[in-house]
Amino acid sequence: MPKKKLIVLTGAGISAESGLKTFRDSDGLWEGYRIEDVATPRAWRKDPQRVLDFYNYRRKNVLQAKPNAAHYGLVELEKDFDVTIITQNIDNLHERAGSTRILHLHGEILKMRSERDTELVYEINGDIKLGDTAEDGCQLRPHIVWFEEAVPMMEQAVPAVASADIFLVIGTSLVVYPAAGLVNYTRPGIPVFILDKKIPYIKNNDRLTAIEKPATEGMEELKQLLFMIR
Ligand code: APR
Repeated sequence: MPKKKLIVLTGAGISAESGLKTFRDSDGLWEGYRIEDVATPRAWRKDPQRVLDFYNYRRKNVLQAKPNAAHYGLVELEKDFDVTIITQNIDNLHERAGSTRILHLHGEILKMRSERDTELVYEINGDIKLGDTAEDGCQLRPHIVWFEEAVPMMEQAVPAVASADIFLVIGTSLVVYPAAGLVNYTRPGIPVFILDKKIPYIKNNDRLTAIEKPATEGMEELKQLLFMIR
């Protein structure tokens, strides 16, 4: 029997217990920063240094963080399922835990790219500085999808979700589109699981199972439930 397709949408909540701040919880990142100052193309044109400072700081945090039991739980699920992770997170904790198929909808903090040519992408561990340029001579910027920018990875994410036998949502407030709309592409009637410290609103679904717990704790319960329908 081929393994069932388990598609997982993750958000900042899965990395919270690794010490990385979420965006919209109290003390979340958007309490300390304004989106329009650090995460839009206009912010980049107006004050690129401020934008670089924000992402240089977050890159350091990511490098200090370690994957937690929720990230590792998703790796274990690969034994029984054909798992694809669609993450809104720009950290690399799914990769470092060992998950094999990961789509980054909102980019990756450990990459940078030419501000003009979206194809000129490079790995980065240190800071990006003003004056650092890509091969095309253009300023390097974080490889991040900012607000108001297109989300090219949706092209791969939508068919992945549409092919799901089981859909799982972990640690996202489901308020940022188009990511939040992915839920609507699941085939009717498939089991949907949601694991979150505070379950967000999700369209009424008669096969929805909600586990309202921190991700690391809820992962055990989730693995048991999934094991029964593998
Ligand atoms: N375990 C499980 N869930 C948690 C935990 C935890 N330990 N801590 C917080 N959460 C949940 C919150 O209840 C909330 O539902 O994680 C979610 C975090 O929501 P947001 O801060 O809005 O993060 P996210 O949904 O990933 O944001 C989406 O917004 O600003 C942009 O680009 C950014 O990718 C991000 C997007």
